[in-house]
Amino acid sequence: MSPIPSPASADRIRGVVLRPGNDLAMTDLVLAPPGSGEVEVAVVAAGVCHSDLHVVRGEWDVPMPVVLGHEGSGVVTALGPDTGDSGLAVGDHVVLSWVPACGTCRYCLAGRPAACSLVAEVVAPKGVLYDGTSRLSSADGEQLHHYLGVSSFADRVVVPVSGAIKVRKDAPLDALALVGCAIATGVGAVRNTAGVEAGATVAVIGCGGVGLSCVQGARLSGAGRIVAVDVVADKLDLARTLGATDTIDASAVDPVAALRTLVPEGLDYVFDAIGKIATTEQAIAALGQGGAAVIVGLPPTGSTARFDPLALAEADQRILGSNYGSVVAHRDIPILVDLVVGGFLDVESMISARRPLEEAGDALAELNEGRALRQLLITGYRPAPYDPAEAGVAGSDSAAYEAYTAYVAPRSASGSTTHTPSGYDPTKREG
Ligand SMILES: NC(=O)c1ccc[n+]([C@@H]2O[C@H](COP(=O)([O-])OP(=O)(O)OC[C@H]3O[C@@H](n4cnc5c(N)ncnc54)[C@H](O)[C@@H]3O)[C@@H](O)[C@H]2O)c1
Ligand SMILES: [Zn+2]
Ligand SMILES: [Zn+2]
Repeated sequence: MSPIPSPASADRIRGVVLRPGNDLAMTDLVLAPPGSGEVEVAVVAAGVCHSDLHVVRGEWDVPMPVVLGHEGSGVVTALGPDTGDSGLAVGDHVVLSWVPACGTCRYCLAGRPAACSLVAEVVAPKGVLYDGTSRLSSADGEQLHHYLGVSSFADRVVVPVSGAIKVRKDAPLDALALVGCAIATGVGAVRNTAGVEAGATVAVIGCGGVGLSCVQGARLSGAGRIVAVDVVADKLDLARTLGATDTIDASAVDPVAALRTLVPEGLDYVFDAIGKIATTEQAIAALGQGGAAVIVGLPPTGSTARFDPLALAEADQRILGSNYGSVVAHRDIPILVDLVVGGFLDVESMISARRPLEEAGDALAELNEGRALRQLLITGYRPAPYDPAEAGVAGSDSAAYEAYTAYVAPRSASGSTTHTPSGYDPTKREG
């Protein structure tokens, strides 16, 4: 990594640093100013995702020391050189994306930025920004790594411009942190990776932030049956509120057998939103003819799951991996925010606590115990009041309606969009 920036251009922030040996602490840090093509964002809120917990548990090979956090929202505070065509300005509200796609690799050019090779080969595994360097260092000059190009467990972050997605200002900015991972990942897995059609039968194994977002995505897609599976009764109750038609308590019954009882022919789509090997195998085993298992939850590095290739081929089934909901972040995130404002996506119910940034360790411990749902870490930074006339990026209720009809209205099995009946009130949540 590059030498640390000169103190004159550096700035003090607080951030949550993980060091080898499960050593997690909030400390004072130095944040260098944004470089070419980068933007500085004051974090308003960061969500605590199970992926942060995988890192704390040492289940993935992440370069350390690292400033944790990859789900977040905030306000643009400074722009680096060469950002004139980014469409961003100081004061903009943004959702942070943990796949800050390069826009020029073959995957980005093919319209699949969630598979960006620069992110997969440099930003994510090396814990740096595009140029191979970090903007983060400790107070005594030690270089620190970025986590997934974000590091949102901090007062401020520097990210590539493609990692800061401008959103409308009339949305609840702290809650929008969830759009940056849980919602984009879960809704995207249903809409983009799987392409769930109206009437399809769907099961979602795991009802944390990601799984409940799959449930909401399936509801928005018009799925005919949405079976939520978890081991915690409260989470199953919430899944029902958010659109599940049936629930299965996997602590009490064999979920594959219970799914067979509910849907004897097997499911069209099963989302593994946990990533335990057992749940991945359950997702494949519960499929019906032509079904697709979508692997969203992530196991420890090096894990392998078993399936019967003969049965898979003969039943014309598919196993799909889904990274970041296969989202096109600049297209999908503003639309998902419109859906939050329009009442189609319930983010608030998925937030079990708001706590100060310094409680990151406690929040991770609660997630580890399985008690918490999504917890927001609040930095204390408050966005400035805005002029309602200038609130929108996409934004107004009619924009939400347009977004709904274009992106989230149920698709028919042929892939065309089924439009909502006239008279439908986009400001009311779906039943
Ligand atoms: N693919 C991606 O792009 C992507 C993005 C974000 C998160 N993830 C991964 O998704 C997974 C879920 O993340 P999260 O933040 O929603 O986690 P979470 O801890 O909030 O939720 C996991 C849920 O699974 C339930 N559960 C645990 N064991 C179970 C079992 N045997 N059967 C049924 N339910 C069980 C828990 O009660 C909990 O509700 C994690 O592995 C995370 O790393 C993947
Ligand atoms: Zn996440
Ligand atoms: Zn790319």
